[in-house]
Amino acid sequence: MTALNVVILAAGKGIRMHSNLPKVLHPLAGRPLLAHVIETARALRPKTLSVVYGHGGEEVPKVMGGHGVIIWVKQEPQLGTGHALMQALPHLEPKGVTLVLYGDVPLVKRETLEKILAHGDKALTLLTVELDDPTGYGRIVRNAKGDVVRIVEQKDAKPAERKIREINTGIMAIPAARLAGWLKRLKTNNAQKEYYLTDIIALAVKDKVKVAAAQPEGPWEVLGVNSKAQLAQIERVYQAQWAYRLLDQGVTLADPARIDVRGSLACGRDVAIDVNCVFEGKVSLGDQVHVGAHCVLKNVSVNSGTVIHPFSHLEDAEIGCDCRIGPYARIRPGTRLDAEVHIGNFVEVKASQVGARSKANHLAYVGDTTVGKNVNIGAGTITCNYDGINKHRTIIEDDVFIGSDTQLVAPVTVRKGATIGAGSTITREAPPDALTLSRAKQVTVPGWKRPVKKPKGET
Ligand code: UD1
Ligand code: CA
Repeated sequence: MTALNVVILAAGKGIRMHSNLPKVLHPLAGRPLLAHVIETARALRPKTLSVVYGHGGEEVPKVMGGHGVIIWVKQEPQLGTGHALMQALPHLEPKGVTLVLYGDVPLVKRETLEKILAHGDKALTLLTVELDDPTGYGRIVRNAKGDVVRIVEQKDAKPAERKIREINTGIMAIPAARLAGWLKRLKTNNAQKEYYLTDIIALAVKDKVKVAAAQPEGPWEVLGVNSKAQLAQIERVYQAQWAYRLLDQGVTLADPARIDVRGSLACGRDVAIDVNCVFEGKVSLGDQVHVGAHCVLKNVSVNSGTVIHPFSHLEDAEIGCDCRIGPYARIRPGTRLDAEVHIGNFVEVKASQVGARSKANHLAYVGDTTVGKNVNIGAGTITCNYDGINKHRTIIEDDVFIGSDTQLVAPVTVRKGATIGAGSTITREAPPDALTLSRAKQVTVPGWKRPVKKPKGET
């Protein structure tokens, strides 16, 4: 394999996004457009990876800081795609191949790029597609033999050339040893007064370097983002690909058009997902997991047999086997549920571990708590974990029964087998196997009468 340079052009303005955020930082499936392109580029194991940025200034390299070693090349002013590549030139390996990608063309597949890299440094290879409506794109001009001879931009094209339906996607693989010489020869005598990278094709032909063209599997791969409408369209393409991959693996989706994966989703066998669920970060669903409608799961692993009922929100949590969650449950970061735990409607669990077969079925807050096995937490139970400054832990041991509407004022421990009477405020340790309650005694006042309204006029 010859050495590979990847240069991602990302200096353009993106005026039509009508946004303060630089275009390449707009999210596709929860990650910047540019992150998708960088990930695809990395899969090719390039020797150098450069990003040409400009509009949006230092925000682009700052946001993309965590994406590994990148050569950041500032282009200012932006005098065209050829000028952009000139800025990157000093950072490139002078031998091998230079692959040009675009920060706003995020769906291109690795297999397609491998196709245009197949000639190594023996040819200049373009990625082209035929469009029903080629308006706006550079057109691929071929001679009578069918060889590519040059590219003409829309604004410079004659009427006959505008009829050409084969267009330049912009993505190309260039013999690196030739690039510097060709870039030096670019001129700005065109309609846009820019250095057009596309003019190197005619120079290659002149220099008798082979010019080849290859096509992607589907034209959607080269869709670019110039507006919010195109961003939304690309998001749907991306999500449809995820949905059909899941269906191919045997996952049941109530509607492949109504699932969003913003990260990764690993599924076991016989997983079923109802409509309008969102999966963010790294999510895994074990065998036979069912996720009801309108759930949001972020960085969660769910073990086999668990059912998540509709409208539940789970984040940074580990859910055991055969649990029942929701409807309307909220599982917050740092939560670990063992097998067969039930977390019901309007129950919030945060930074807590819950042992096997324990249940909190209705209206409760369980925060910073260790719950043992076979515990029943009654409706309306609240762990008072926060004194306004510090968080404190509650410990509820195995086989505890907590009556409804109880407050457990942390730090506090409820010992094994204890029962807490409904309506209690527990501030001290509750001993094992005993009934503990704190409740004002119920009294009935003999002879008490309800007040009656005085007739009008009386004082
Ligand atoms: C370019 C191609 C055209 C192709 C089209 C595909 C040229 C001269 N034309 O046209 O043949 O059909 O892309 O979409 O190359 N950029 C920079 N610095 C610059 C100018 C552009 O980094 O100075 C980046 C932009 O951020 C963008 C990409 O290059 O990602 C393309 O730039 P754009 O201005 O959209 O080029 P087009 O005129 O659309
Ligand atoms: Ca463009």
